[in-house]
Formats: sequence, C-alpha cells, structure tokens
Amino acid sequence: MKKHVLLFASIAALAGILFGFDTGVISGAILFINDEFHLTPLSNGVVTSSVLLGAFIGSLFSGRLTDILGRKYFLMFTAIIFIVGTIMTTFAASVGFLIFGRLVVGVGIGVASYIAPLYISEISPMQYRGAFVTLNQLSITIGILLSFLVDYLFSLVGSWRWMFFCGIFPAIVLFLGLFLLPQSPRWLMHVGREEKAKRVLMTIRTNPKEIEEEMQAMHDISTMHKATWKDLFESNVRKSLYIGIFLAVIQQLVGINAILYYAPTIFENSGFHQKTGAILSGLGVGIVNTLATIVAIPLLDRLGRKPLIYAGMGIMAIGLIFLFCAMELFHAKYFVVWSIMIYILGFAISLGPITWLMIVEIFPLHIRGLGSSICTACNWASNWLVSLTFLSIAQAISLPYTFFIYLFFIAVGTWITFLYVPETKCVSLEVIENNLYSGKKARDIGI
Ligand code: BGC
Repeated sequence: MKKHVLLFASIAALAGILFGFDTGVISGAILFINDEFHLTPLSNGVVTSSVLLGAFIGSLFSGRLTDILGRKYFLMFTAIIFIVGTIMTTFAASVGFLIFGRLVVGVGIGVASYIAPLYISEISPMQYRGAFVTLNQLSITIGILLSFLVDYLFSLVGSWRWMFFCGIFPAIVLFLGLFLLPQSPRWLMHVGREEKAKRVLMTIRTNPKEIEEEMQAMHDISTMHKATWKDLFESNVRKSLYIGIFLAVIQQLVGINAILYYAPTIFENSGFHQKTGAILSGLGVGIVNTLATIVAIPLLDRLGRKPLIYAGMGIMAIGLIFLFCAMELFHAKYFVVWSIMIYILGFAISLGPITWLMIVEIFPLHIRGLGSSICTACNWASNWLVSLTFLSIAQAISLPYTFFIYLFFIAVGTWITFLYVPETKCVSLEVIENNLYSGKKARDIGI
C-alpha cells in the first residue's frame, strides 16, 4: 500500500475534527451563553440545536451536486463555510445572529459529515477501507475532545466567544490540506475521465495488476448504470436506502448525543456543583470516546462490522443500566461518570464508526452522493429530535428513566441489524454494487 493514500485519507478526515468540534463546543458554551443572554428554555434549545438544523439542510440538498461536481471541491467549499460561520458566531451581538451563525456552521457540518467518509471510501484499498474511513470518526471524537478541552480552558475566564473561535484553526488547516488531494478515482470514472482516474490510482496503489483489476471493475460499473433520480427508489437500490436510513437513525436514537451534549448538565445534576468541574468530567468522557475509537480501527476490517455492532450495543446497554442505578439507586456521582464512560465505549466501537462507514459503502457509484446524503440528513434530523426532546422527557419522567427509552432502541437496533444489515468487510465497492443489482437480499449484498 502506498503511503500517499493514508495521507490523503487523513487530510480528508480532518473534516471530522470540525464536525466534532462544532457539535461538541456547545455543551460547555451554552452554560455561559445562558448567563450572558438569559435564555429561556426554548431559546436555549434553539441555540443548541440550530447547528443540527443547518446540518440537516446541508446534507439533504448537497447529495446530487456531490455526484455532479465531485467530492474534493465540495469539501473545500465546506471548509470555507466553516470559516465564515465560525466568525459569525464568535462576534454575534444578539441571540438571533448567534443562531444564524450556528446554522451556517451546521450547513458545513452536514455536507462534510458524509463527503469526507465517501471520498475516503473511494480511494481506500478494500482491505483497509473500514480502518481508513474510521479515521474520519476518530477525527470526530478528537474534535469533540478538543471542544471539551477548549470549553474547560475558556470556562476559567467565562468566554464562550473564544470557545467558538477556536474552531477556525482546523477549518483553515483542512482548506489548505485539500489542495494536496487528488479527485476520487471512482468519481472520475463515473464522469468519464478514465485516463485521469488511472493516473490517480497509480499514485495510491502499488501493484500494476491491482490497478488494472480495479480499473476494470470500476469501468464495468460506471458504464453499466446511468444515473437518474428514480434510481434511488428502484427496487434493488431501495434496499441500500433502507439499511442506510436505519443505521443513520438508530445511531442517534440510542441517545449518544443526549449524553454527549448534556454530559456537563448530567454531571451538574449528579452533584458536581461547579460548572468547570462538570466540564472537566465531560473531558474524561471525550478521552474515552477517542481511545475507544482507536481500538475500533483495526478491528473493523478484522472482526467485521456486524460483530462490532453487537458487542458495542451490548456494552452500551450495560452502561445505561449502570447509569440508571448510579443516579436512581446509589446517587453516586463518580459511578455516574464511569457508567457514561462504559456507554461511550460501546458506542465508539460500534455505531459511531460503522454508521458513517456503511452509509457510503452500500450505494451504487452513480448515486452514492445522493443516497448517502439522504441517510445523513436522516441522521441529523434524528440527532435534532433526540437533543430537543431529551430535557423535556427527562423533566417529565426524570433523567434516569429517560435512559430506558435509549435502551429500548438499542434492543430494536440489534434485532434489525441481525435481520437486515449486510457484512461489508473486505468486499470491494464494485462487488457490493453487483450484488445489489443481482437482486440479493439486503443482508447478503456483502457476500
Ligand atoms: C455521531 C455523532 C456523535 C459522535 C460521537 C458520530 O458518529 O454521528 O452524532 O456526536 O459520533 O463520537
């Protein structure tokens, strides 16, 4: 394997840092924004969730363009959106402007959240695809960790504006790094630039035979199906759409962001009285998230996607049950912290990386952008739903009982995974596509 491909994947994965940073930063910043603007519960919810709405809009409306214009230039465009949005939020003089700035940042996140994994999946050698695409999830967790760190540091001086402003640095690095990236060879093939696709493959593969075979497989695929909008709902492709939407939605319904976004609040409620103490414990959660993702990277292509989903779901369930006991029965604040860490560990080895990985693996080339953008939009919509409803549900039935709802979705998710989700470990994107069109069952398209 050529080192270039790892470098290119790592650069594209920087988009994940922005995703993680800009979604995570709010959990600490909101405490201080509240103090400055005296938010009502409603405006609090809107400030927190405006980024999610932006991400929903960004992902929903960009898919077709990704297929037409290519992955690389779209990523550049998102880096610019991040920079503009970050400046807007940093200098926001009113709540309205702050919400608007967060919405703009959200559009960038929405687009980047699927284009980065998609690009990486299209340049990766198939036997490392799981690991390479998961670099993006690793960056997401690093971004979240950085956001918690920045939140902690600036909580000492009480400045939420500096918290937001720090997001500009990874955005600039991403923008500059993208100039080094080649176009995706698969996308080039799709738009008929076969010679260029071959030249790109020669920079990212070592073995000439492997290059010839990959060119041939891509060639067969790209000349076989011409794209139309209706293709997405064509009976074979519909399977991918259902699996993708399922993974995207279940990733959120298990409650990950209720716990991540509100970790400092949960800690404050469990007896950490100082804002900084609560944020500091959140930092510990971020560290576990990153470390566990590192553990997942080599396992994805070795054990496969489905075994990790089962293991992760089981660990998440244990974490939530512990969390319930810690809060409801024992009232022990450090037990709360540990339970949340167990839950995060489970997520980080399963639905965290695998959702983004499989969303881009299961669609045929000609509508990969569109298909994954729709699944991504569903992910952001469910993220928004969970974040918005979490506090109200917690108020209605109490915080510990809220976790049973997420437990329920873990059970449902595991069952549906067993029945319908395919194993895509070490199978080329072209084989998955051929299997789809040959009418195989959803769970068999990776065989
Ligand atoms: C999810 C995010 C979540 C993050 C946590 C991502 O895969 O899409 O919603 O905040 O993982 O690590």
